Amino acid sequence: MHQPAITGTGVFTPAEVISNDELVHSFNAYADRMNARHAAAIAAGEAEPMQHSSVEFIVQASGIENRRVVNKSGILDPEVMHPLLRARADDEPGLMAEMAVAACSDALEMAGVAPAEVDAVICAASNHERPYPAIAVEIQNLVGTSGFGFDMNVACSSATFGIQAAADMIRAGSIRKALVVNPEVCSGHHEWRDRDCHFIFGDVCTATLIEREADATGPHFTIRSTRLATEFSNNIRNNNGFLRRTRPGHMEDRRDMLFVQEGRKVFKQVLPLVCAHIAGHMKDEGIEAADLKRLWLHQANKTMNDFIGKKVMGRTPTPEEQPNILQDYANTSSAGSIVAFAQHSDDMADGDIGLICSFGAGYSVGSVIVERKSAA
Ligand code: COA
Repeated sequence: MHQPAITGTGVFTPAEVISNDELVHSFNAYADRMNARHAAAIAAGEAEPMQHSSVEFIVQASGIENRRVVNKSGILDPEVMHPLLRARADDEPGLMAEMAVAACSDALEMAGVAPAEVDAVICAASNHERPYPAIAVEIQNLVGTSGFGFDMNVACSSATFGIQAAADMIRAGSIRKALVVNPEVCSGHHEWRDRDCHFIFGDVCTATLIEREADATGPHFTIRSTRLATEFSNNIRNNNGFLRRTRPGHMEDRRDMLFVQEGRKVFKQVLPLVCAHIAGHMKDEGIEAADLKRLWLHQANKTMNDFIGKKVMGRTPTPEEQPNILQDYANTSSAGSIVAFAQHSDDMADGDIGLICSFGAGYSVGSVIVERKSAA
């Protein structure tokens, strides 16, 4: 068995930013237009008027202040309310692959690894822009890696599930190096017209290079242990899929063809699941709360993270111990905990232990316990 380690990370951040102010302004303009359009039905009591959104609510309910997106103009246009992206020819890089190339290049550079040394690409994300050829194989081709690639989807937990898959292959010896890539174009499957959730998502892409620790040439994170769990729930769901055209009415602009959630239920059900998962993982690894120097959590909601952090640490963690990035990025699905890890781990000392945890639809939860090694 070989010991796996994370030796490089990369984050591709889209250039366009939407503030809460901008988002609420355009949502309220959309609501006003819809109310005007349906004024007669509303006056007759046959339809409910749309309510305005508010910046205060968004910050208080989620902690989100800004989100990065691949296209801002479409999302903010009250007559459009979704990203507008040009159609690409089959021989051009797709959007997810393009984002992935940028994140992978940074991860490879950080690790000092040449693309051809990489044996596997796992494209782990909550949506893939087409079923086949796999996005991972396209990334393999564009980055110039060897071996093979495959796509996987475990919604918001995709990154930790991908890390375990790669780490296990490295442990077993079937590969030496892998890139786990999380191109999350959440803006494409989000319902920007729904007041209850229009503020929660953003776009980003993360990449993690995992290799045999014996091959590491610089500072890195030993993967001490990984743990995954799933439990079926319909409280976060998206009914879009390839059987859509076979069902009468499914080609219409239906709410359930985009991200849908019962936010309150998710909150109540996922928190105990995640807290118990982390506690069990730490106990089995003989890690006490006092041993844990950092917690990189899934970035969906600040109140959720505050709750988990307090439960895991047995006290309120400092912002340095439990870094949040959701205020700047919003929920970027599987990429969120990896953005936090990539941006808030350089300062850790030799031997420091940290835990990456992602959770979401499925329900699913994954945790990765890592130990900082300041030199190869
Ligand atoms: N602006 C103003 N008011 C709003 C609003 C908005 N954008 N959206 C909802 N409200 C109102 C609601 O109508 C409701 O009003 P009422 O009390 O009069 O009925 C009130 O605010 C509370 O709404 P609710 O949806 O219960 O808010 P919440 O506190 O649960 O926060 C989420 C909503 C989505 C932020 C929160 O539920 C959440 O983060 N859940 C977990 C999500 C998660 O982890 N998902 C994983 C996805 S990967």
